[in-house]
Amino acid sequence: TPIKVGHIYDVQELRSATPTVIPERCIRDMADERPTKATPQPSIHNIPIVDLSNLFEGDEDQFQRELIKLGTSCQEWGFFQVVNHGIDKELLERMEKLTKEFFMLPLEEKKKYTMEPGTIQGYGQAFVFSEDQKLDWCNMFALGVEPQFIRNPKLWPAKPENFSETLVEYSTHIRKLCQNLLRFIARGLSLKEEVFNEMFAVAVQAVRMNYYPTCSRPDLVMGLSPHSDGSALTVLQEAAGSPVGLQILKDDTWVPVQPVPNALIINIGDTIEVLTNGKYKSVEHRAVVDMEKDRLSLVTFYAPSYEIDLAPLPEFINENHPSKYKKYNHGEYSRHYVTNKLQGKKALEFAK
Ligand code: SIN
Ligand code: FE2
Repeated sequence: TPIKVGHIYDVQELRSATPTVIPERCIRDMADERPTKATPQPSIHNIPIVDLSNLFEGDEDQFQRELIKLGTSCQEWGFFQVVNHGIDKELLERMEKLTKEFFMLPLEEKKKYTMEPGTIQGYGQAFVFSEDQKLDWCNMFALGVEPQFIRNPKLWPAKPENFSETLVEYSTHIRKLCQNLLRFIARGLSLKEEVFNEMFAVAVQAVRMNYYPTCSRPDLVMGLSPHSDGSALTVLQEAAGSPVGLQILKDDTWVPVQPVPNALIINIGDTIEVLTNGKYKSVEHRAVVDMEKDRLSLVTFYAPSYEIDLAPLPEFINENHPSKYKKYNHGEYSRHYVTNKLQGKKALEFAK
């Protein structure tokens, strides 16, 4: 019998038990939903790299040049990598090691933290709502971190030791990075520096750790279905030595992201797309799996509080650029986002 957590296959267990069997529910039947589409050969281009030291401590010239690079990255790619981001390598490595240790725990241990159907926190797979929906080739462990009231203490794991403390420490640093990025993004848009930070004063921060085991037929399965993020900003850490897995949709082509060692990958989420009236794009992305190497990614979602209403800022609306989005409540948007399967940029239609 197949190994499941709740109603979801545990792909790590599945791979160990029956290495060459791929359940029907994981096989994408539409050719265009399979990873081979539009990736005929490894792409040579990569997403832009932003050197934050130029923004933190560069002279006026370096600052302005990097600020323009940041703006162009947000506008043309919606994705970039940051280097010299100021977060200790040691902390990133510690978090990564503990996350790996969590996924290596026996299934019985991880099952204590099972993600209940229809919820998005815990161990399992989010965004699954029907028996005929295809499943991603991924085990997830997701936790709400900030504000405190979104934490579900029953889901914070007792093992590995120090996991919880480290996650809090990690999240504090990622939060500061997001606040700094939002300052620079605001300046690049000629907005008041604190405009986003004031708006997101009670920001919601959640972490999702994704474990993608190897698959004997990576051409038939998807690691993570195509989607855009419902956050304002997303920060992604690739575990060292991971195979390339993240792909972003650029000019109708899936472009693989080649991680730079010690860099963090940042992407613009739906919130910023709406606030800038589409000037900055929340770009569709997905993850594919590898035949030889497992992959682990640690993803932080940084989003506004559920209470606030969102609409394009007046600075981005004029005769040539009419408002593309209506005013909506972010809490309602979040509920809409997490109660539907991942499907490209479909969630954002809620705001139209
Ligand atoms: C995500 O989009 O949440 C993660 C994708 C990845 O694992 O690279
Ligand atoms: Fe994502």
